[in-house]
Order: sequence, then C-alpha cells, then structure tokens
Amino acid sequence: MQLQQNISLKPYNTFGIDVSAEYLMVLNDAAILQQVNTDKSLPAEKHILGGGSNVLLTKAVKGLVLLNKLKGITIEREDEEHVWVKVSAGEIWHELVHYAIDNNLAGIENLALIPGTVGAAPIQNIGAYGVEAKETIDSVRCWHWEEQEFITYSNASCRFGYRDSIFKQELKNKVFVTDVTFRLNKKPAYNISYGAIEQELQKMNVTSLSIKAIADAVIAIRSSKLPDPKQTGNAGSFFKNPTITYEHFELLQTNYPNIPSYPVSDIMIKVPAGWLIEQCGWKGVKRGDAGVHEKQALVIANYGNASGKEIWELSEEILESVKERFGIILEREVQVW
Ligand code: EPU
Repeated sequence: MQLQQNISLKPYNTFGIDVSAEYLMVLNDAAILQQVNTDKSLPAEKHILGGGSNVLLTKAVKGLVLLNKLKGITIEREDEEHVWVKVSAGEIWHELVHYAIDNNLAGIENLALIPGTVGAAPIQNIGAYGVEAKETIDSVRCWHWEEQEFITYSNASCRFGYRDSIFKQELKNKVFVTDVTFRLNKKPAYNISYGAIEQELQKMNVTSLSIKAIADAVIAIRSSKLPDPKQTGNAGSFFKNPTITYEHFELLQTNYPNIPSYPVSDIMIKVPAGWLIEQCGWKGVKRGDAGVHEKQALVIANYGNASGKEIWELSEEILESVKERFGIILEREVQVW
C-alpha cells in the first residue's frame, strides 16, 4: 500500500489538466480495499480514477485518489451461444475489445476505441454506434465502502439508462467497481444500423461482415472526427444528447427544418447536442487554450494549458447560448470534480 502525497493528476486525466491530489494510491489488488476502508490514518474522503477520460478537474483534489489498476481477464463459463468473461476494472476498455475480436466474441465491437477503463463502462453505460455496454454486461462486482464487503450487482439492479446507472445515482461515491462480467456472443448479431458504419464498410470494400470489420469501421469513423486524447486533451462528448418533447421539437422544426433527431418514446425525442452547439456558432471557437473541437462540436478540448476552470467556463457559455436559442438545457456528460 504505497501512498504518494501532493501528486499532479495531469498524467491521469485525458483533459491533461494539471491539478494536484492530496494523496494518491495505485490500487492493483482488490484485497487491499478492506484495509483502505478501515485504516484510520488514511483520509476519509476518497475519489476513484480509472482512465480519467470522463472527468473535468476544476480544483486541487482533497483526500485520497485511488487509481484503479486492477488487471485480469478470465473466462467464467460458457454455453453454446455465450461466453461469460470476468474483467478487472482497471483493464483498458479498447484492449478488451481487442481480446473479444481475437477470440471471435461479439457484442462490444461497436464500442471500439472508446477511451477509459472497463470499470467506467457500467458507471456511465458507455455507448456508441447503436450499441450500449448494458447489452453485454452480466454483472458488476464492487467493494461497498459503508457495508465493508464485496457486492455483486446484476444487470437489472444496475438500472442502466442513457449514459446513466445506479453507480451515478444512489451508489455514487459509495462503491469501488472491482470487476465486470460480460456475456459475449459466440454467434454474432451485427449491428450496423448507425448509418455511418454502413458507409464506412462500403468505403473499406467489406463484402462479408465480421466482428473485426465492424470494429475497424468504428475505429476509422472515430479517428476521423474525434480528437485522440493522447494528442489533444479531451473527454469525448462533453454534454449528453438532450431529450425533449415532440411538442417542443415541432416548434423548433418550424425554424430549423433540418434538425436531426432520434425518437425515444411516443412523447419524447432526442436531438444531438453537437448539432445544437454548432448552430449556435461554437464549432472551432477557442477561449485561450480551451476550445470547441472543429470537427465535432460536442467535444471540448484542451489545446494547451487550459485549466479545468477555463473549460468549465466555456461550457457554461455554451449552455447559456443553447438555452437561449433553443430553450434546451444541456446536461454535462463529464463528471466535474
Ligand atoms: N452533429 C452536428 N455537428 C457536430 C456534431 C454532430 O451537426 O458538431 C450532428 C451530426 O451531423 C449528426 C448528429 O449530430 O446528425 C449526431 O452526431 P454523431 O453521429 O457524431 O454522434 P453524437 O450524437 O454527437 C453520440 C455519442 C458519442 C458516440 C456517437 C456515435 C453522446 C453524448 N455521444 O455522439 O459518444 O461516439 O454518438 O454513436 O451520446 C462519448 O460519449 O464520449 C461519445 C463520443
């Protein structure tokens, strides 16, 4: 159990924000969690970082930051159609996608190249190109800080929603995700419903679908419009796509006949936040080193040494202008610390 003091978190968040943590501990053995929980010499305030790809650090972090580096992928069981794979939360998500491709296991190929760790996948129910993590998550094992024991949550008890789960709600700050069990498919059910995938497959001259071909198409699309956090600091989509009523939508359509949308229910419809932000003129706009990405307005980037506060302030300005122009209040997708 090695504790470091006053450590910069710059290498541990994909925005590349330079703030310090009062204490930092790298966790590579889940068994230590009990000790971390009860050791009175450690700060009571605890924060968990996986890949740091969905967090905006706006100030120095008080207390103890636990860096989740739990590693391991094991096959739990299988039947004719499925394989249950238990994955430690500190594994890199994209490496798990590679593992699935190499072992011909389907279900997460559309989620290729999403930055971050496996532990973050259930927390915000990561999703892209018509697929969400909840479709393959069988269960999530966690250490519960108050109960002081490991608890396994079934898929149903995770209460997954769009970029949402029980871990962002009732269990927020209450658990440490240690492993996730996925139920992957031996018999692929390819999902190419998201228009861009089909176009990309054609461009790649793919004639017979495969898990790898879909992952390659997704990788090509993502690389063409989303900035690589290794080169330009960012946390993917900064805001969620908002859901509004059809009544509101029809009103907007009178002024914006080309507004894109995805039906959600009989009364609700989702509109892309990237489109709303672009319409407000934000694409490519910079405020110092903080800026709206020039290819995808839903991404706010750190083009140099922006502070978390500067990125936050830019996001506030964006929120205000979208609210004023469309009457829609955007919700941040990133977790703000
Ligand atoms: N659009 C614009 N301008 C922009 C960006 C988008 O007009 O600057 C329009 C596009 O033309 C399209 C629509 O908005 O009509 C949707 O755009 P896109 O397919 O790029 O997807 P998105 O809704 O902006 C969501 C996810 C992404 C995910 C993609 C693909 C959210 C918050 N974001 O973005 O997830 O990769 O779909 O499935 O749901 C993430 O969560 O970090 C993330 C990158």
